[in-house]
Amino acid sequence: MAGRLDGKVAIITGAGTGIGEAIAHKFAREGARLMLAGLRDDPVEDVARSIRENGGEVAVCSGNVSHEQTAHDCVDKTIDHFGRLDVLVNNAGVFLEVAECQDYSVPAFDVTVLNNVRSVFLMTKFALPHLQRTRGVVLSAGSESGHMGEGNNAPYGGTKGFVHAFMKGVAFEQGKYGVRANCVCPGPIDTAWTHKETGPMDEQMEQMTVAGTVLGRRGTPEEMANVYAFLASDEASYVTGALWYADGGTTIAKGGPGRQVPSTIAEQPQPTLPLEHSHDGLRNKQAKNRLH
Ligand SMILES: NC(=O)c1ccc[n+]([C@@H]2O[C@H](COP(=O)([O-])OP(=O)(O)OC[C@H]3O[C@@H](n4cnc5c(N)ncnc54)[C@H](O)[C@@H]3O)[C@@H](O)[C@H]2O)c1
Repeated sequence: MAGRLDGKVAIITGAGTGIGEAIAHKFAREGARLMLAGLRDDPVEDVARSIRENGGEVAVCSGNVSHEQTAHDCVDKTIDHFGRLDVLVNNAGVFLEVAECQDYSVPAFDVTVLNNVRSVFLMTKFALPHLQRTRGVVLSAGSESGHMGEGNNAPYGGTKGFVHAFMKGVAFEQGKYGVRANCVCPGPIDTAWTHKETGPMDEQMEQMTVAGTVLGRRGTPEEMANVYAFLASDEASYVTGALWYADGGTTIAKGGPGRQVPSTIAEQPQPTLPLEHSHDGLRNKQAKNRLH
């Protein structure tokens, strides 16, 4: 059966773990040939081996793609190896520290900006000349937090806000070359980041993050990979400049942060205006569809 990505060559950054590992397997299953990028200690070679065992064609570039030379080499190596580039997936990113802004460390901020922002810019910059030849696609990992902000890791949400606007700008200017650019914006996904045992979230943040979805659970890496595969394929040929939410409804959920607020702070201010009809708006109206 023909794969949706047959004939395409894709670079996937951060491909050794989490969502990136799933994107790699999904794209291989859909027929793409792959360049997998990851930090030196990441299990990228493991993922590559597993894909090869299943008949996929894959190469690896190891190193930090927030470094200019490494990003450049990664794209060059892809062209040398496969002769073309159709899809860049900027999936690499970090979620390092959970702290209110006044306590957030400057080194964590700097590393977050490097890995989540500079890497996306560099990889996109170096890939674009090749993507223009193939009318290719750039897909970047956004996040619902790029839209909503991320309390207790505000810098992280800020970097994702950058990625959202950056992809829209790229989509705007590259349309004339036939290049599409989009973000996939996950909610809480079942990777190291959303478990207190394997990431910086404490128990309360972990619970609130999952409770903040309307589906009541984390998404899986494979569910994210399915979205990336669609957006990378020709089936998404009219999708560009999109923030493609795959967040279990986080952005439409009301959430529960108010439960944390002490009653002294949550107390409503005393009225100073002579309001007598604050709650009268539904009087004399049909109420049969009221839920409570
Ligand atoms: N997990 C979530 O809940 C969630 C939610 C929204 C968005 N996202 C986004 O999805 C992406 C993947 O997240 P994940 O949960 O799979 O995390 P993960 O830590 O499992 O994967 C990220 C990978 O990127 C690698 N990486 C980081 N910086 C790099 C760099 N400069 N060069 C090369 N490799 C680098 C890491 O080593 C890691 O293997 C991230 O961009 C993240 O912001 C994740």
